[in-house]
Amino acid sequence: MRKQLLLLLMFACSLSSAIAQKSAVSKDLALTPPMGWNTWNKFACNVSEELVRGMAEAMVKSGMKDAGYQYVVIDDCWQVSRDANANIVADPQRFPSGIKALADYVHSLGLKFGIYSDAGSKTCAGRPGGLGHEYQDALQYAAWDVDYLKYDWCNTTTQDAKASYANIRQALDASGRPILLSICEWGTAKPWLWGKEVGGNLWRTTGDIQDRWAGKQKWPGGDCCSNGMLAIVDEQVGLESYAGPGHWNDPDMLEVGNGGMTTTEYQAHFSLWALLAAPLIAGNDLRSMTPEIHDILTNKEVIAIDQDPLGREGRRVWKDGDLEVWGKQLKNGDRAVILLNRGSSQHEIAVTWEQIGYPAHVSAAVRNLWTHKDLGKFTERFSATVASHGAVMVTVRP
Ligand code: GLA
Repeated sequence: MRKQLLLLLMFACSLSSAIAQKSAVSKDLALTPPMGWNTWNKFACNVSEELVRGMAEAMVKSGMKDAGYQYVVIDDCWQVSRDANANIVADPQRFPSGIKALADYVHSLGLKFGIYSDAGSKTCAGRPGGLGHEYQDALQYAAWDVDYLKYDWCNTTTQDAKASYANIRQALDASGRPILLSICEWGTAKPWLWGKEVGGNLWRTTGDIQDRWAGKQKWPGGDCCSNGMLAIVDEQVGLESYAGPGHWNDPDMLEVGNGGMTTTEYQAHFSLWALLAAPLIAGNDLRSMTPEIHDILTNKEVIAIDQDPLGREGRRVWKDGDLEVWGKQLKNGDRAVILLNRGSSQHEIAVTWEQIGYPAHVSAAVRNLWTHKDLGKFTERFSATVASHGAVMVTVRP
């Protein structure tokens, strides 16, 4: 009896470790939130090797690479069919040189290469999905030298989300190549509860982002939604503790520079994503950025908050109507703080030391991360006038 119990226990343990955990090959991926660029937000299905090459070149020339952006990711619509052996086939018109050549080119620029598929029978745009081909596709991606896989959740009918993503992680690991796994399940089955266990490096927490300040819209089928930037921010509240090195909440890709928000609003969008330790995946045309957009995306002081090695996701520490204070603990003990004004007129907003975990009597140096200026030393609190739809972002150093 005892022997049977022991055997049962051993079986249960090996099963759970089989479901869970990245193998050694993917263990150290995404120790800070991944940074890169993805085709979807600006180009949707209009993808091609020319576009991806151009964007990879622009990532280097614009200084984005130097600022930390690394992954160049092709989203949906690169794939058209499966061949007689069920191998996935890239669109021969749009990718005439093939995916491997494109990955090689991206790598030759010192960048990393990512691709997209779907856990169901078809992708969201109706292209062939990965269901039933997980190991075959993983081998193909590894042979193409793919570094990053975004795996979507359309057309999955009765599939179990946790099991499906565990399966693709195991398939990727079995290929022997370290491939970062981006779980794109829109938060439906609460991936923050199991994403880390199945070896996901990031998981979407919401429906798709829309290039606007606020609001929410139902998808045509009525399922879920497209979200304005602030609707997404609100959905992050309460999820903070699930994020950490190697496994991040993903409030979706950046819309900075796509035209639907003002520069002030984009600055707030970028500030909030950094404070949330969100993946910073740009989605604008890097070949033709205005200087203002360039300066937002490459603000190294703000990026450093996102990439802080402690890996804490920041949180909202105060709210009164349209006025909010957000704080994030950094590895060196400093705090990053955002004073956010959602309202339609400018307003004074204060952060108190108590809200960010310091005793009131402490004297702390405040630095503005957008004007790059030291503002002096303050005790008890710091306040600033914040523009309508704006964010003042500072560090507080005792
Ligand atoms: C879903 C995802 C998006 C994008 C599209 C592609 O909507 O959430 O990020 O990948 O599919 O079809």
